[in-house]
Amino acid sequence: MTTRVSNPVITVQNLRKTFGSVEAVKDVSFNVEPGQVLGLLGPNGAGKTTTINMISTLLHIDAGEASVGGFDVRTQPEAVRQLIGLAGQSAAVDEKLTARENLELFGRLYKIPRVERRRRIDELIEQFDLGEFAERPASTYSGGERRRLDVVAALVAEPPAVFLDEPTTGLDPRSRSELWNTVRSLAANGVAIVLSTQYLEEADRLADEILVIDQGSVVAQGTPDALKRDLERDVLEVHVTSRADLDVARELLGFDESIITDIEARRIDIPIPDGADRSLDLLRQLQEGGVSISNFQLRQPTLDDVFLALTGATVTESEELTT
Ligand SMILES: Nc1ncnc2c1ncn2[C@@H]1O[C@H](COP(=O)(O)OP(=O)(O)OP(=O)(O)O)[C@@H](O)[C@H]1O
Ligand SMILES: [Mg+2]
Repeated sequence: MTTRVSNPVITVQNLRKTFGSVEAVKDVSFNVEPGQVLGLLGPNGAGKTTTINMISTLLHIDAGEASVGGFDVRTQPEAVRQLIGLAGQSAAVDEKLTARENLELFGRLYKIPRVERRRRIDELIEQFDLGEFAERPASTYSGGERRRLDVVAALVAEPPAVFLDEPTTGLDPRSRSELWNTVRSLAANGVAIVLSTQYLEEADRLADEILVIDQGSVVAQGTPDALKRDLERDVLEVHVTSRADLDVARELLGFDESIITDIEARRIDIPIPDGADRSLDLLRQLQEGGVSISNFQLRQPTLDDVFLALTGATVTESEELTT
């Protein structure tokens, strides 16, 4: 059984961290209730790991507040550590030890009594299919196997708060979907989860609430559906026949930076604020300009569109998009 703690399990207010002149985290706030998954979504260097490491007591908090299970991260770090499991981005496993020995070590760290520790570790090894490599040193594991061990190590003590920093990076599709199921079943058991990811699909599928962060600041916050709704525009997807068609199309459209080009898929995505009429005009313009269109579709924005609009585009552009 997971230890019962007060609601919400994790609270974070105006968290801030600078490294020299780098403002890694500027102003991040959120709460996570039992059974909720908070997705921290952002590109490289956004401040995801810094945020997670501050809440999990690994990094000193410069300003702002954080608590886990009602305990203050700054003043009661020992109590906080007993309540959290962390699968960090840089693996915490000991290379010389086997999976079983690593899990033993974590269990002892959390002061789980010996008999229960054995039972719990056997259960995890079985549940996560670690059997084949549980008895050989971690230095011999593949990247994906190591990642799995990391996540499992965070679960040994059945903590009520779990932090997963890009848990599926480097996993193959099968392991990734297994991990997604693990996250869902943890949440179903009342665990509060903070999960960082660069994968929009992952945040969309798992998170109850998403924080999009970029350069240390929260640029959007809400449920996946609300984020998509906020971006009030449709997207005209135009598939063209050749690479040359793509180039011509982009030129005809004035190299507008809000247009996203997928070269591999021979596709351009054009944001359309004002619906069907504009789409027909654009398609006609492309066709008259000699672009060979193989297919097109007017669709709702995806989380990808939201993300690119918020973090990919220049500031002026994203302002334009939201007005
Ligand atoms: N110990 C440190 N010293 C100096 N700068 C740091 C330190 N740790 C992080 N940074 C900087 O802070 C910013 C945020 O880094 P962070 O690791 O939190 O990003 P991230 O969102 O986890 O990125 P990624 O997706 O690449 O893991 C980056 O610019 C990084 O270079
Ligand atoms: Mg990181």
